[in-house]
Amino acid sequence: MIKVYVSRFNRQSDSKPHMECYEIEKTPQMKVLDALQAINEKYDADISFRSSCRAGQCGSCGILFNGNGALACQKEIKDNARIEPLNFPVIKDLIVDRSEIENKVKNLHLNLHSDERKDLDKSLTKDNTKDTKKLRSCIECYSCLSTCPVVNIATEEFGGPYIMRYISKFESDPREDFDRLKESLDEGLYNCTSCGKCLAVCPKNINTFGDAIEKMRAVACDNNLGPLPEHVGFRNNIEKTGRSVSCNGESFISQVENYNGSKIALFTGCMLDNKLQRIGHTLLEVLEKNDIKIDVPEGQVCCGSPLLRTGQRDLVRCLVDKNREIFKDYDIVLTLCSGCGSTLKNNHPEFGSKLNVMDISEFLVDKLDTDKMKEVNMKVTYHDPCHLGRGQGIKDQPREIIEKIKGVEFEEMLYPCQCCGAGGGIKSGKPEIAMELSREKAKMIKDTGADAVVTICPFCQQNLQDGLDSIGENHIKSMHILELINEAYK
Ligand code: FES
Repeated sequence: MIKVYVSRFNRQSDSKPHMECYEIEKTPQMKVLDALQAINEKYDADISFRSSCRAGQCGSCGILFNGNGALACQKEIKDNARIEPLNFPVIKDLIVDRSEIENKVKNLHLNLHSDERKDLDKSLTKDNTKDTKKLRSCIECYSCLSTCPVVNIATEEFGGPYIMRYISKFESDPREDFDRLKESLDEGLYNCTSCGKCLAVCPKNINTFGDAIEKMRAVACDNNLGPLPEHVGFRNNIEKTGRSVSCNGESFISQVENYNGSKIALFTGCMLDNKLQRIGHTLLEVLEKNDIKIDVPEGQVCCGSPLLRTGQRDLVRCLVDKNREIFKDYDIVLTLCSGCGSTLKNNHPEFGSKLNVMDISEFLVDKLDTDKMKEVNMKVTYHDPCHLGRGQGIKDQPREIIEKIKGVEFEEMLYPCQCCGAGGGIKSGKPEIAMELSREKAKMIKDTGADAVVTICPFCQQNLQDGLDSIGENHIKSMHILELINEAYK
């Protein structure tokens, strides 16, 4: 038997939706749709929901499953699952009124505006269709739109992944006569945090950030319509120093011994090298306790993430080439920043650089000497950085490390994978969005009763602390996982 929670709402009798719990027998691979039907049969519950093809093709059965968009006909039911309607006005139970988004599509004239007869060069080529094939496979289930954290906080107008994907389809079509680039900027092209949640919930695996938003940001930069003025500063820094942020004091690389003859090297990243040198020193202390030596090579530069995420691609090749030269003879390249790690793993190969990159949690999970650890009496929770959890598929290792530390009590927050708002150029370009998202996370952290939130990204770490401070919870500390590990070795 499993328990399933379903949101119920009937306009005639309810003022707002409420959750009802049902118990049903789970059959192997039972889908949400089967579970809803089983509930209706067993309880005569009359839960209303939409479905048609039952094959993941029509998109009509979109729901929220534990807070994330999903197709009811494809998602396997789980014990204690929470089934709710998409984030649109509810008509009854799981049936929603989609007219708002349908009207928006109509008002944006999201259909091809073209007079090919006037200009024969404008015909569609195989290459154009190859580039946009994936974007055109949307089945309009609205899972992405209902799950997008920026859309849900509604701080600023943002069309969200559904509209961005739609506009991009026409922007990249040579036959299109409308100014789709301007339209994308009006709809908040620079409001996306690059969290990747839309890809994670998309039943058709459409990478809206990478294939639509990031590409349109690059086109905007090529046409002098992007990036945001705040993003120009880190570009200037990179051009002058190789680093996206200025240096507080002496850089980490210049403070430490750089070469130990190790085949393992540290990719420091800009924040750690120029602002958070103490985390680099913490790493060296932890490694020393575990008899591991690493190199911290000189000459390394920014991974290019801030440029790629904001559409400023022209400098990236040079950065990739410099880093490849520095790290090419190492067996392992360690990262302490999820954004750097994700960029090195996912973007650098397209520029011809394939290093063996490991996040610090992947590297340390089976190497920590737990006999040398003392008890750490703290309660902690863990925030999954988007570029680590979704960007690199690393969720278990940080939790396994936390579990190894004696005395630490761990409690998951409600949605540990929800974006904190630090990425995608949002923290610098749209700080009000970053702050609102970090406040959302801060409330989840507070609800766990934790003394600290642990993460593996200097940008998330800072943004989470800002959120905690702003809701008056500055006694809760935002820590890099290395700082927690090091507590056990003090
Ligand atoms: S019923 Fe058609 S996609 Fe689920």
